[in-house]
Amino acid sequence: MQSFNFKCPTEIVFGRGAEEQVATKLREYGASHIFIVYGGGSVVKSGLLAKVERILLSAGFAVQTLGGVQPNPRLGFVRQGVRTALAFQADFILAIGGGSVIDSAKAIAHGTANPGIDVWDFWCGREKLTRSMPVASILTLAAAGSETSDSAVITNEETGKKAGLNTPFNRPAIAFMNPELTFTVPKKQLVCGISDILMHTLERYFTSCKETNAFTDLVAESLLKNVMAQSKVAVENQQDYDAMSEIMWCGSVSHCNFTELGRAKDFTCHKLGHELSGRFDVTHGASLTTIWPAWAQYVWRDDVPRFAQFAERIFGITSGSDEEKAQAGIKAMVEYFRSLGMPTNFTELGIGVQDKNSIAYLADMATAGDTKKLGNFHPLDKAMAIEIYQLAN
Ligand code: NZQ
Ligand code: ZN
Repeated sequence: MQSFNFKCPTEIVFGRGAEEQVATKLREYGASHIFIVYGGGSVVKSGLLAKVERILLSAGFAVQTLGGVQPNPRLGFVRQGVRTALAFQADFILAIGGGSVIDSAKAIAHGTANPGIDVWDFWCGREKLTRSMPVASILTLAAAGSETSDSAVITNEETGKKAGLNTPFNRPAIAFMNPELTFTVPKKQLVCGISDILMHTLERYFTSCKETNAFTDLVAESLLKNVMAQSKVAVENQQDYDAMSEIMWCGSVSHCNFTELGRAKDFTCHKLGHELSGRFDVTHGASLTTIWPAWAQYVWRDDVPRFAQFAERIFGITSGSDEEKAQAGIKAMVEYFRSLGMPTNFTELGIGVQDKNSIAYLADMATAGDTKKLGNFHPLDKAMAIEIYQLAN
């Protein structure tokens, strides 16, 4: 096991009616001027926004709202949010929605705590983030894990670059997680979310680390198996409270770093996928299931026993050589994604990146002009990224 430092300070309030504790809890965190961020209107339609506003106003908080976050959240909205939050003298940012809303809230918190600095400068490394403002979320979609993660992903719509920022300042103070709030998620978002949750652990399971990590392996494998089993129930009946609870909680555990302890994560598929979303506005989960099959085929020979273990423990594939098991495991994973209705190549994804120039452009963006290698399981330069994009064709 490699040395690690794990600090995930986010308080979790989980269960039916969790959001009703918002006033009591935010008071504990010293909030006074609460700036609420939400998305394209699902929380207006469901009545959740009005309910939360009512609770906060009647408890005496000053409240201002800003809606309009789009999936693959845009920098322009964040900049607008920073201006509005500063004018309101916000001291607490509350996200009500999914990963895009929470990521925007995190970015608005950073910008509001650092007036005078363009928030994008933190994402492209021109400025180092040294302080922020507390963020809470009322989660409505189990997927990105942003409610506990140290990451936030924003798209600069002027350049088409979708970039993540990892910093302890991205860990929200508190998350309110009521599985019932996810009952209205569109089916497409449900399966994209399930795929994203699985990918957050898969991208931590296949890494260059050769040291034994028995416990972390078991945690990761249990999470993968549980999410796959629960997804069968949830896809059939999205109002199944138990299945949606399991998926929601696994979503938070999958991306809070708990499934990587003792080894370094890889996240190559996320980086290659972000370029697809930045350029073509592809839904995040769909970008990942498009890339993973090609990535797995490209790298599996680097650690055949690892892929064989994955096949055995996740899919119960015990016959054949390690090579045969590894191949059968990859096939089973791809079939599972297909069973959810997820795309597993560019054709299924339905975007026209088949020509060489488009693929070279994506690979160039992903590797910052061939100056950065991606991942550690099989570190990729631009030429290798091109090969993976071509395999995904
Ligand atoms: O905008 P509204 O109207 O709320 O509708 C949203 C949106 O259209 C809808 N939705 C959410 N909850 C709903 C609902 N519709 C009905 N009922 C509900 N209860 O779902 C759509 C998608 O929402 P979005 O927030 O974009 O989805 P998700 O949670 O999958 O977040 C995706 C974003 O998170 C980033 C992704 O790259 C993407 O930009 N990620 C963030 C991470 C992080 N911060 O740690 C890690 C991930 O790897 C990921 O990169
Ligand atoms: Zn993800």
